[in-house]
Amino acid sequence: MRHLMSPLDFSVEELDQLLDLAVDIENHPEKYAHACDGKKLATLFYEPSTRTRLSFEAAMINLGGSVLGFSSAASSSAAKGESVSDTIRMISCYADICAMRHHKEGAPMVASTVSSIPVINAGDGGHQHPTQTLTDLLTIRSLKGRLGNLTIGLCGDLKFGRTVHSLVKALARYEGVKFVFISPEELRIPSYIKEDVLEVNHLPYQEVERLEDVMGDLDILYMTRVQRERFFNEEDYIRLKDFYILDRKKMELAKDDMIVMHPLPRVNEISVEVDKDPRAAYFRQVQYGVYVRMALILTLLEVKVC
Ligand code: CP
Repeated sequence: MRHLMSPLDFSVEELDQLLDLAVDIENHPEKYAHACDGKKLATLFYEPSTRTRLSFEAAMINLGGSVLGFSSAASSSAAKGESVSDTIRMISCYADICAMRHHKEGAPMVASTVSSIPVINAGDGGHQHPTQTLTDLLTIRSLKGRLGNLTIGLCGDLKFGRTVHSLVKALARYEGVKFVFISPEELRIPSYIKEDVLEVNHLPYQEVERLEDVMGDLDILYMTRVQRERFFNEEDYIRLKDFYILDRKKMELAKDDMIVMHPLPRVNEISVEVDKDPRAAYFRQVQYGVYVRMALILTLLEVKVC
């Protein structure tokens, strides 16, 4: 039995197969409509979510399965003090696979050690968000035609943004990827990513504060929200929250084929006027999230569709 805790749990070859499966699902959804008949997915969300929880649920329903779960710690027995380990032992009796989001880093990993069903990390604190990374990889491969030889700018809250940490780890395995980290001093990418992922593998990266200075170099601009829920004080959040606002004027500096991605939700960091720009890919990214989560459920449940 396999779990998914980090995008690195899959080899590059396995990831290719998973993305190929997602593309086949996109092109032939009817083939997969009963692939998970009789199977159940549990969504255990101790932290708020719109996309991740609902796209997992849509994915399982598209595969013919059913869903159950909770959408906040307050509406589960966690509010009475039940541990993650005890909860997952119960859920193993009710469902065939589960997706867990938790504010504590490592909580899905703890669950996976006692679970008798596959556990998917749907985001743990400021640590990892592997299924957002699968979504991002499918989006990049579908819209840019490759995962290597790209210059990707990651902009905003690179300190607390778990989607950024997971994506950098995943893209670092492809040839010719250059990273440009665009953030204020206080929200820089953690040192462990620079040292253990990039420097150890001699991968090029650049750290800058002004988005305008690098806009013209980028193949992909990955915008992120400043993560209010992970700040220690509101004052710092207010000071930093509007540090970057991508607008039409800044988009004029970008290549014609650059794409703008965002894991969403967005707050102010992308002006709504950018939504109409054909390079804005963040709503298409959401749709890719459903296909890739369908592929992931099939892979972890070892369901083969001919
Ligand atoms: N991208 C993402 O994780 O969105 P949600 O928080 O709405 O699930």
